[in-house]
Amino acid sequence: MKKIIQSITIIGMLTAVSGTLQAGEKSGEALFKANCTSCHVTVHPEDESKLTAPPIMGAVRHVKMNHATKEAAVAFIVDYVQNPSKEKAACEAHTIDKFGLMPSLKGAVSEADLKKIAEYLYDTYPNGQGHGRGHGKGRQGGKGCRGERGHGRGAGHGGHGR
Ligand code: HEC
Repeated sequence: MKKIIQSITIIGMLTAVSGTLQAGEKSGEALFKANCTSCHVTVHPEDESKLTAPPIMGAVRHVKMNHATKEAAVAFIVDYVQNPSKEKAACEAHTIDKFGLMPSLKGAVSEADLKKIAEYLYDTYPNGQGHGRGHGKGRQGGKGCRGERGHGRGAGHGGHGR
């Protein structure tokens, strides 16, 4: 019985510790996942009809096209998330017609957190590079890599006696 109580206490302490860690510094990535990925997917889906917002790499790509420096792009994202408007939007008009304007997250996410998110996004996306070239679709895996041939040599020692 004592043992059980002891382990419960330890589990309780561990939970408390990880709880405080979570409440402390969060990375831009964690903040992005917590606040933005409910709408912005990070992987281009096969079926775009289910999306409620543009995939994040597309949005960030457009922001980068309009803002030459990281400072400007980060400032734009921090502002846009709090005060979205059709005039400011980097997305094309047809994107906004399709999804509607992004709802403001003012008050929901602090400006300091938004800055971290924006910096993370700027450093991370678009991850495929190359303007417009079919992003996301079919990453070529495996086949045709050099060095694959030659495996399996030496199998089968021709028929041992009998
Ligand atoms: C409730 C859904 C929703 C959430 C949550 C959301 N967004 Fe959006 N976001 C949208 C939609 C819809 C658009 C496309 C229309 C537009 O540009 O306003 C968009 C557009 C954008 C754009 C492109 C802006 C432009 O210039 O057109 C950026 C950048 C962006 N979101 C960043 C974020 C970040 C960062 C977060 C998290 C802090 C976030 N979004 C959370 C729905 C959302």
